[in-house]
Amino acid sequence: MSINFGVDYYPEHWPEERWETDARLMQEMGVQVVRMAEFSWHKLEPVEGTYDFEWLDRVIRLLAKHGIKTILGTPSAAPPAWMCNKYPDVMPVDRNGQRRYFGGRHHDCQSNPIYREKVTAIVTRMADHFGNNPDVIGWQPDNELGNSHLDVCFCDSCRKSFQKWLQKKYVNVGALNKAWGTPFWSQEYNSFEEVFAPLKTLTGENPSTMLDWKRFHSDLIVDFLTMQVNILREKCPNQFVTHNYMGFSNCVDYYKLSKPLDFVCQDQYPTGYWIDDGWASPSELAATLDVIRSYKNRSYWMMEQESGICGWEYMGRLPAPGQLPLWALQSIGHGADTVVFFRWRTCTFGTEEYWHGILPHNGVPGRTYNEYKELIHKMNPLMEQMKGAVPKSDVGIIFSFDQNWAFEIQPNARGLNYQNHVRSWYKAFYDRHMNVDFITERADFPQYKLIVAPLQYLMSPVLADSFTRYVEAGGHLVLTMRSGVKETDNRCFTKDALPGLLRKLAGAQILDYDALSQNECEVRFDGADCQTESSDHFEGAAGFDGSSCQKKSEVCLEGAAPAACHGRFWADVLTPDEGTEVLATYASEWYKGAAAVTAHNVGKGVCWYVGTEPDDAFMSALAGLFVDKAEIRSMGCAKKAGSGLHGMPATDVEFVSKEKDGVVWSFVLNHSAEPRTYEYAVDAGELVFGENAGTLAAYEVHIYRK
Ligand code: GAL
Repeated sequence: MSINFGVDYYPEHWPEERWETDARLMQEMGVQVVRMAEFSWHKLEPVEGTYDFEWLDRVIRLLAKHGIKTILGTPSAAPPAWMCNKYPDVMPVDRNGQRRYFGGRHHDCQSNPIYREKVTAIVTRMADHFGNNPDVIGWQPDNELGNSHLDVCFCDSCRKSFQKWLQKKYVNVGALNKAWGTPFWSQEYNSFEEVFAPLKTLTGENPSTMLDWKRFHSDLIVDFLTMQVNILREKCPNQFVTHNYMGFSNCVDYYKLSKPLDFVCQDQYPTGYWIDDGWASPSELAATLDVIRSYKNRSYWMMEQESGICGWEYMGRLPAPGQLPLWALQSIGHGADTVVFFRWRTCTFGTEEYWHGILPHNGVPGRTYNEYKELIHKMNPLMEQMKGAVPKSDVGIIFSFDQNWAFEIQPNARGLNYQNHVRSWYKAFYDRHMNVDFITERADFPQYKLIVAPLQYLMSPVLADSFTRYVEAGGHLVLTMRSGVKETDNRCFTKDALPGLLRKLAGAQILDYDALSQNECEVRFDGADCQTESSDHFEGAAGFDGSSCQKKSEVCLEGAAPAACHGRFWADVLTPDEGTEVLATYASEWYKGAAAVTAHNVGKGVCWYVGTEPDDAFMSALAGLFVDKAEIRSMGCAKKAGSGLHGMPATDVEFVSKEKDGVVWSFVLNHSAEPRTYEYAVDAGELVFGENAGTLAAYEVHIYRK
């Protein structure tokens, strides 16, 4: 049986008499798998050393009778009260040195030896008990590791673990003093035992200490997961092990966390209550899915796909009819093999009583149940064929936890945010209806026609060399501001002008830079401002006819004529070497006329350096230039229906394709509440999901197979 759709189920929240009804309704909906028990430590070990797995056996059996398999969570995200009372040190300490207590979740210290002993004991018992159960197909140790862990843990046990980690890295304390630049403010250490966990200081922090702390903390989480995975691998060889991630969340390096897992999962909440304007934008959602795929460089699962209003103390927006299936299909289009919906039924108590499930509080199936049921029944036959398919992309964008952390420690300019910068580049290609991969600095660069390497702040000789080799061999590389500034220990580079190790490759040096913070600078692009440039650059945009898709990639851009170009947050003032072309210059500030964007031909390729964060119009125009040069085409174009022969292009229609074994699945998704028309520039093959090729109703999705 192919496992395509599932639900997150909490049988312990409901009377046992209800389980049968739930199982039957799930079966009728088409559900093939549930995830359970990831927060049920007390139910599984009500008193220390006494285990009760019978209730879980019963529900697993009942679900199996209805053709539904189980994924089990290990409960280490919710240590019970008996443990926290008896061993208070298992609870974490925050940066203020304040213990965080029982009553929420993730109130655990992952280095604490007693906690590790208790976790090992329950995971071993569960693995022994369920490891040979054919109805249990896999495991999810803990839940969203790193969640709630932003400010923990700074306890004595973590301090000692940090010291050990440092000793392993630096071997002698002199090397640590050098790497951290401890002569500044008398921070020298005589031994590793003198190093503190970085509790709140009165003023200022050492950036090198803070970066090592973040790396240590991430490694600790990876180690905590690996400890559980090792037990499960030994005792449950026929069951998979996975974990649910939170997109771009940066508490743990997800590339490292993924290593011991079979595949990774995402928890996707497009209308989370914390989202300022209510809705995550389609491109943000798409970026999240693409970054998730990158963590293990393969297809993934959706372990929690939104099923309605998301709420804790506050509630988020209500998805419109059709929107939930649209988002599930978006997850599938970007590479999800299986979609599990969170949660089966809205809980009637506890922190998440307003986090809406498929069934409402009263348990009676309604609109959401019916929408998902229809989706599942239509998609089931296709899902099996699509298993393992992933988007193939010519564009790679580097995403790095180290760079992210370094900017978190020192944003450099007010408003500058590593992730937002990365996502603004992503959006430029997404809007052009192109597949995009996120990649690590260690990725196989040559497979991409174009690589965007945003904010390469920390630079190593190895990485600088691989960028150079990529360009020399014919690659198209985009470097952006604030690159080559630091060595990997987070101290400033001194051996050359900026961009340091990338200076030769960029073919330019930066002798002045300006933290614009909240001020924007004006930029002249290609000898003209964006206004003039855009009117012909975006020429194809206003027209929509069959031929326009075959033209340049920018035909699909919304809004034909962007206003003048601006740079945000930062300005690297570039002095080009001889032979380096200047593509854009600053048009305001005292360095007006100096280069803002350069192009340097190296070997068979080109390296562009973009000295500021382009605003949307400028970014879009630049991306157009880069993809044309790299010969990357849009998949298609879309327009707002009903707006006449030459309707406006629509970027709220998303194109994504995924492929496996020579079969390509092309998805076109209408994220708008209005109808849209679209046209493919490539041969997408046969329409296998939806009808009326070329026209999409509000929130409708079409899928093609070729
Ligand atoms: C997720 C988490 C779930 C549930 C959900 C709603 O982040 O994994 O356990 O808490 O959010 O808040």
